[in-house]
Amino acid sequence: MPLNRKDVLTLEDMSVEEMTLILDTADSLKEILGRDIKKVPTLRGRSVMTLFYEPSTRTRTSFEMAGKYMSADTANIATTTSAVVKGETLKDTAWTVEAMGIDCIVMRHPIAGAPHFLARICQASIINAGDGMHEHPTQGLLDMFSIRERKGTLRALKVAIVGDILHSRVARSNIWGLTKMGADVWVTGPSTLMPPGIERTGVRTTFRVEEAIEGADVVMVLRLQLERQKKGLFPSIREYSRLFGVTRERLALAKQDFILMHPGPMNRGVEIASDVADSEYSLITDQVTNGVAVRMAVLYLLLGGGPEGSAQAEGGGEKR
Ligand code: CP
Repeated sequence: MPLNRKDVLTLEDMSVEEMTLILDTADSLKEILGRDIKKVPTLRGRSVMTLFYEPSTRTRTSFEMAGKYMSADTANIATTTSAVVKGETLKDTAWTVEAMGIDCIVMRHPIAGAPHFLARICQASIINAGDGMHEHPTQGLLDMFSIRERKGTLRALKVAIVGDILHSRVARSNIWGLTKMGADVWVTGPSTLMPPGIERTGVRTTFRVEEAIEGADVVMVLRLQLERQKKGLFPSIREYSRLFGVTRERLALAKQDFILMHPGPMNRGVEIASDVADSEYSLITDQVTNGVAVRMAVLYLLLGGGPEGSAQAEGGGEKR
């Protein structure tokens, strides 16, 4: 089954079949990352532009590497050194990019819905790499991939998402994805950082971090968005860390074989204790590696088409 869509904008609008197709395709493509020469011709002649209006280390670079590993031509627009600083609008920037013959624009923007706007006005495929507090669909997919790879399934796993749920596009994409895939999702954090009505998405909420972590198969820690502290949504970073910081003591409540995740970047010693971030439970660097595989899958399915796994058949089966 091909991914029968032009754009990847949210997991809210993605079916279980589509998400499973992406995860299965990533599974077959991940092998390429272990090769001496990481290059297959699958997307030769295709072009990918990253257009980021906010900082990024992992997402932007992993999309670029994913494209390069599959022989796509890749280019980046850093808005700080582009005509955006001269006042060029998003629409004009997008049309300028399209006029260069770009097949896919990977976009991060501080305003929720900005990638949807681009998807409406562009013929190129648009991938949402994070829009405001709304969604970060490829992060949700790579998180689900990482859990499934380690646990074999997502169904019936207890997943505790800990931290600033209100401002987190990572939480939102994971909530949509994981609940559809049958996980038992709990969210916890300060009441001021909990979106009203979040239960309607099918998650369970608690303001006691211990209740969320107890018996969890997966503990997913979110970055505390320190810039929000100015709004007085929690008393102090020290207080936040005391009440909601993920420590070895709190993790002792989780299942014995639990896994610990964080999308990055981390505030060590704030939302996550430094020793547990580096512990044997931590999947944090695997998440980064899996991000490349998942983004390869997304690019492949949007730009390359064809049945799952044929990327390898097209030349991936041998070292080049
Ligand atoms: N997880 C994530 O989106 O990281 P970056 O901001 O570094 O892309």
